[in-house]
Amino acid sequence: MKIILLGPPGAGKGTQAKLISGKYSIPHISTGDIFRKNISEKTPLGVKAKSYMDKGQLVPDELTIEIVNDRLQNDDCKNGFLLDGFPRTVKQAEALDKFLESQGTKIDSALLIEVPQEFILDRMTGRRVCKDCGASYHVKFNPSKSEGKCDLCGGELIQRKDDTKETVKERLDVYSKQTAPLVEYYKNKESLCTVDGTQEIEEVFHSICDILGSDK
Ligand code: AP5
Ligand code: MG
Ligand code: ZN
Repeated sequence: MKIILLGPPGAGKGTQAKLISGKYSIPHISTGDIFRKNISEKTPLGVKAKSYMDKGQLVPDELTIEIVNDRLQNDDCKNGFLLDGFPRTVKQAEALDKFLESQGTKIDSALLIEVPQEFILDRMTGRRVCKDCGASYHVKFNPSKSEGKCDLCGGELIQRKDDTKETVKERLDVYSKQTAPLVEYYKNKESLCTVDGTQEIEEVFHSICDILGSDK
């Protein structure tokens, strides 16, 4: 099963990705998590990515496409994968299609998690993420069992640097200009499915499972 998760910042892509990846046993590939790992390890890629991410802008396509193409060649992607936060531009979507075509395969579903703008700021400012595995929590909507600690791996929960009011505004702007056109792109390929992301986390997950079905 080869799936893409689309949706604005704070839609719940990361939250749903963890659940989907667990149920369908496919790797969760988040370009944001890959960049954040590189930033914390101070790699050359991390240094480059940080200057864009801190401002809420997109990391250049060339860098991002190469990282995903490399990652998709890992053995764990043979039976499928879940892309969270990629593609984010039409250029990235075209590069992904081209890469998959060269492997004799294609995307099964592009799942759009729809959440209106007025929900986003609360979600972002209350978000806490695991420093080690990237899992998302929310102080009000989805608290961890033990305060400040990840339920999945015990890692420390921190606030993301780009979760400030100003940066969230810029990210929403970038989303509507550069990423929203992908909705049409996947609609035209007849692989788009839409889910109401304003429901409770478990309900969103049920809606997604209804779409994906029970096969792997
Ligand atoms: P990335 O890490 O992908 O961030 P994003 O797309 O802005 O999305 P978020 O991770 O902020 O939100 P999410 O949808 O995952 O929501 P979550 O589940 O955490 O990218 C960060 C940066 O990296 C980009 O700005 C860019 O610079 C760079 N980058 C990444 N990919 C790139 C690419 N392909 N090209 C170029 N640059 C790239 O949920 C949010 C909060 O809401 C949490 O607190 C959660 O607990 C809560 N929540 C979730 N679901 C619900 C619900 N149903 N009800 C109530 N609360 C909920
Ligand atoms: Mg995320
Ligand atoms: Zn964790």
